[in-house]
Amino acid sequence: NSTSLKCEAFMTDRYAVVGNPIAHSKSPLIHAEFARQTNQDMAYAAMLAPLEDFAGTVKKFQAEGGKGLNVTVPFKQEAWKLATLLTDRARLAEAVNTLKFEPDGTILGDNTDGAGLTRDIRENLAISLAGKRVLLMGAGGAARGVLLPLLLQKPERLIIANRTPKKAIELERHFAAYGRVEGGDYARLAGSLFDIVINATSSSLSNALPPLPQGVFAPGALAYDMMYGKGLTPFLQFARDNGAAQMADGLGMLVEQAAESFFLWRGVRPQTLSVMSLLKSC
Ligand code: ATR
Repeated sequence: NSTSLKCEAFMTDRYAVVGNPIAHSKSPLIHAEFARQTNQDMAYAAMLAPLEDFAGTVKKFQAEGGKGLNVTVPFKQEAWKLATLLTDRARLAEAVNTLKFEPDGTILGDNTDGAGLTRDIRENLAISLAGKRVLLMGAGGAARGVLLPLLLQKPERLIIANRTPKKAIELERHFAAYGRVEGGDYARLAGSLFDIVINATSSSLSNALPPLPQGVFAPGALAYDMMYGKGLTPFLQFARDNGAAQMADGLGMLVEQAAESFFLWRGVRPQTLSVMSLLKSC
């Protein structure tokens, strides 16, 4: 009825990040800062979903008028299945980190991780991926999530190396139509040089180092660890000791993927550098 419609017009738009666990998430702080900066009337919360009822949690949030969700571990694949419409990058990633609830009931699923990564490299680190020799380490969800945006930057070569080479070869097949990508093991990297080496493995979580041969960093190379908040990870340490010129962790990617989600929801692009500084200071 018209009264409830009128009331809805005055209601603050609600968003949340959903995961399990979720208490550690920096997304509420990032989105609160974006909203403040761009004068958006919105609220953004952290929401714990039970492991066995992600879909129920999402549907309830949608039924209560929620406008969108960020989705994190371990629900990105479930979110992919739940979406009724997918962007190309989410369809290929088989994982969704952003849901947008459209007024007609459509659940749009996007994956902004790859755009976050490529934007951080291009805009914040001022390094072009075009024509570069790029090495992506890992063939799990994190790697799959960034592959299409990486390929669309038109690197000269994009190699996926994985401890279990079969998985890297599967990704090569999955993405072959979108650009030149080669999958294999780490041993085959010996003798090759890369301008950009990206760690999309979970090795930094266990303080381990992927079996990267020495001598793969080209002069001026960038070493990028998608993990953040771990300081100098074994990978970044190895890179520094083996000739990488520049090192970056995943904090910029975290803020940029959030900005992409914010843009999808609100149609406004927030400033990211100030938010990165804020996160570094807390
Ligand atoms: P995520 O969603 O974070 O990508 P995942 O799907 O479990 O998590 O994948 C983890 C990735 O990190 C895999 O590519 C894994 O290699 P395997 O497929 O061979 O298991 C990689 N990984 C984890 N620890 C590693 C280590 N110490 N050295 C090299 N690769 C590692």
